[in-house]
Amino acid sequence: MRGLRGKTFIVAGGATGIGAGTAERLAAEGAFVTVGDINIQGAEATAERIGRSGGRAVAVEFDLSDDESVRELVGRTIAEFGAVDGLHNVGADLSPDNIGRDTSLLDTDMDVWRRTLDVNLLGYVRTSRAVLPHLLEKGGGSIVITSSGGSLGTDPSHVAYNASKAAVNQLTRHIAVNWGGAGIRSNGVMPGLVMGETQEQQNDLELQQAFMAAARTTRLGKPSDLASVAAFLLSDEAEWINGQVWYIGGASHLRQ
Ligand SMILES: NC(=O)c1ccc[n+]([C@@H]2O[C@H](COP(=O)([O-])OP(=O)(O)OC[C@H]3O[C@@H](n4cnc5c(N)ncnc54)[C@H](O)[C@@H]3O)[C@@H](O)[C@H]2O)c1
Repeated sequence: MRGLRGKTFIVAGGATGIGAGTAERLAAEGAFVTVGDINIQGAEATAERIGRSGGRAVAVEFDLSDDESVRELVGRTIAEFGAVDGLHNVGADLSPDNIGRDTSLLDTDMDVWRRTLDVNLLGYVRTSRAVLPHLLEKGGGSIVITSSGGSLGTDPSHVAYNASKAAVNQLTRHIAVNWGGAGIRSNGVMPGLVMGETQEQQNDLELQQAFMAAARTTRLGKPSDLASVAAFLLSDEAEWINGQVWYIGGASHLRQ
């Protein structure tokens, strides 16, 4: 894809799943990648796979809920590669202890709300705030935010998670509206059911059947289905696309 080779991208949440797939895809296109994650072993494994395939990547431990560690993520990237050209916001707290207790409004504890908003929403606020000045200084850059089909409003559960994802849709548009004229592109993806490591472990057959019943496709999603879209949106091939949030999920939703 045009405009990825030799550029540097931060994948904020690249230990497993969609983030790992995107980091690998960006590196295969010739980009340099910082693989940030709270799961440093996973981030190192992604970076090692990239290295073995002839790409360049560095793994950095960071926590979306911690301002200082987000600043360090960006600082380490610039120290390693000399620049930053784009950001993929993809991490989210999908731990059973958090999202497993995120159900309906009446049953979800406030600590689940706080944790979910702190990581999934404020985490993307922190990373975007830390990266944007560097992109503006360079005269442009691209941000891709990972939302969810859940933000479209038909899931009766996961009230906090879906609210956090609806909020990042607006964050995506806010960045595009304010800095599009300065060369900044900000777009989002809303995945359908994508079988990364986390979903394979959970192996929720009821969810998989419900998804397939609503979808117009032959299979569940793979991380590479989202990685190709994120890489495209980060590339210069997408230079006239800004402020959009796309549903990528086997057509189980037809309107956005
Ligand atoms: N897989 C799906 O079906 C699906 C559907 C809709 C949306 N999404 C979204 O896609 C994104 C990727 O999800 P995935 O399915 O690849 O799952 P995943 O669990 O493989 O990826 C999430 C990553 O975020 C990291 N993370 C968690 N808390 C963090 C923190 N505090 N700081 C830094 N990193 C942290 C995890 O360690 C993990 O590497 C998420 O934003 C998720 O909400 C996924």
